[in-house]
Amino acid sequence: MTDGSELLTGVSGTALVVSMARAAESRRADRLFEDRLAGPFLDAAGPERQAVWNTDQGEQFTAAMGDYFALRTRYFDDFLGRACAAGCRQVVLLAAGLDTRAHRLDWPAGTRLFELDLPAVLAFKEHVLRGETPRCRRETIATDLRGEWPAPLVAHGFRTDAPTAWLIEGVLVYLTADVADSLMGQVSALSAPGSRLAVEHVTRAMVDSDQAREAVADSPDGVVNLLASLWKNEMTRPPGDWLAAHGWSATEDPLTDLARRHARPVPPAFDPARPGTGRVRLLTAVR
Ligand SMILES: C[S@@+](CC[C@H](N)C(=O)[O-])C[C@H]1O[C@@H](n2cnc3c(N)ncnc32)[C@H](O)[C@@H]1O
Repeated sequence: MTDGSELLTGVSGTALVVSMARAAESRRADRLFEDRLAGPFLDAAGPERQAVWNTDQGEQFTAAMGDYFALRTRYFDDFLGRACAAGCRQVVLLAAGLDTRAHRLDWPAGTRLFELDLPAVLAFKEHVLRGETPRCRRETIATDLRGEWPAPLVAHGFRTDAPTAWLIEGVLVYLTADVADSLMGQVSALSAPGSRLAVEHVTRAMVDSDQAREAVADSPDGVVNLLASLWKNEMTRPPGDWLAAHGWSATEDPLTDLARRHARPVPPAFDPARPGTGRVRLLTAVR
């Protein structure tokens, strides 16, 4: 029987990139979190699927991203802890990928966590997670976020009258601005008062940096071109305004502050002190 890793192509394959970073962070003595299941995902995917990242350009990409995925993961871990402390017992991970927070974070009793992603990703994930026990009540919903995902979410037990903690991590850049806006409309319509939201806001323009363009020109078959071919979001609206228009009061945390707080270097790809670099924005919001 196949483990389904052959289906992790295109945008689904990006979930493995995050697992690589989480596995590496988990090996550090000063780790910002421990994701003991990230390694098993990589093992199951096999060396062939990781080969593209073991090229010169793959290594350059990893160096340029630096501690970004680790900082982002920890930022959202902390958000979820605060959201639960504020009373949320319902958590939704949109485009959950190979996120194992259901298995690795401490959840208050009664927490229900919903993971949504494309069928191929969740099939592979379930194959690897067989026998692992989540630390909350976990539901997976194989769906396309470009469509009508709220109905299956509600059918799996999601309650529109309960405050929810929503996480949108690592996916907005892969959705067109219209789809992202429709997604935020769907999230907002499902959010009871007291709901919280955390989002990594990235657009194509924000990551189409001088460095990325040079990498694509140097090696059109390399990983940066692979990723760039998936970037779709061309939203120009400031994310705080965008979220406000959907009824959310947002706070942005500059990546430079986050890095300083955790005594880590600013990820080179997003370092404003270096010329020609990209930008990402990390925000939390309340309704
Ligand atoms: C870079 S990964 C991030 C995964 C996860 N949020 C994390 O940080 O570990 C991007 C994820 O978005 C998912 N994705 C992209 N487009 C999607 C869509 N239209 N519907 C559902 N999931 C999608 C991919 O399958 C992939 O798992």
